[in-house]
Amino acid sequence: MEPKIIKTKDEMRAWSRSIRSQGKTIGLVPTMGCLHHGHLSLITQAQKHTHHVVVSIYVNPGQFAVTEDLSTYPSDFHGDIQKLKSIGGVDVVFNPHDLYDYGDRLGIKRTTDNNNNNNNNNNRGETVSCLEGETKHETWVRVEGLEKGLCGKSRPVFFRGVATVVAKLFNIVEPDVAVFGKKDYQQWRVILRMVLDLDFAVKVIGSELTREEDGLAMSSRNVHLSPQEREQALSISRALFEAKSAAYKGEKIVGDLRQSVIESIEAAGGKIDYVEIVDQESLETVEEIKNGVVVCVAAWFGKVRLIDNMEIDVL
Ligand code: PAJ
Repeated sequence: MEPKIIKTKDEMRAWSRSIRSQGKTIGLVPTMGCLHHGHLSLITQAQKHTHHVVVSIYVNPGQFAVTEDLSTYPSDFHGDIQKLKSIGGVDVVFNPHDLYDYGDRLGIKRTTDNNNNNNNNNNRGETVSCLEGETKHETWVRVEGLEKGLCGKSRPVFFRGVATVVAKLFNIVEPDVAVFGKKDYQQWRVILRMVLDLDFAVKVIGSELTREEDGLAMSSRNVHLSPQEREQALSISRALFEAKSAAYKGEKIVGDLRQSVIESIEAAGGKIDYVEIVDQESLETVEEIKNGVVVCVAAWFGKVRLIDNMEIDVL
């Protein structure tokens, strides 16, 4: 089955409303494209819970700081559609050109060519139009506590951008269910909290992290790793699995476990952004290793920042 490709908000909303008027449910899987098996596993989850599945492919400029990798964020729209076609069961790919474009309703004419819709998921010509200038976005969703730690420390506008674009997608697609990967653990928690606090009628499902056979957490950014960096990056998952088995063997001391993860990654040539052991729900630092904690890592290999995590559950 070839998914229907929808480019505009109005058409997307009209499709969803017609499906819902037939009493059918809709599952949404938000992505930024360059799909891999991690993304596809979320689609499988959505298919289990709903009649129809929408996959959004949109590289959201609102969640990249000006200094970050928006311009080099990988994209492969054609390949994505082929992958979705081969797994089947995806009804719609929602691929808007610019979610922050309100036509002439802002009373401001945009300088960029918004009709250039044949460029397949490329909004890069106007990357910061929602962040600066007269078309700057005004309304942001902030999940004030959860957005601060972990990735929020080095990427202060990231979760505000994610929560805002997900709120927009929820309002446009009106899904019954939305699936997020636990690979982006803090993102999943931020969205769960946003849905609770703002009474979105969407059930959020957290889907397990998918790894390559050698343990590397799947990520669209992995394509930027050189072969040597990719090899070095395996130190992250190795350190996390070692941490998990140390916890199962009785390690209780947060400082020691954290230090051993840091040392393993640094020894392989990684530059640590953070290694934190936090409560799975509050994401607050814990005092001792126990059930319900998660070890979260962000580290740089060359120019690529990778994140990974390991839940510790049955001690
Ligand atoms: P993106 O990085 O494309 O990821 C889309 C979804 O796939 C997220 O929910 C992410 O957690 C999940 N995912 C990525 N790699 C995974 C893996 N190895 N295993 C399981 N799930 C994985 O996350 C985003 O896009 C954006 O921030 C978005 C939510 C779309 C908002 O712009």
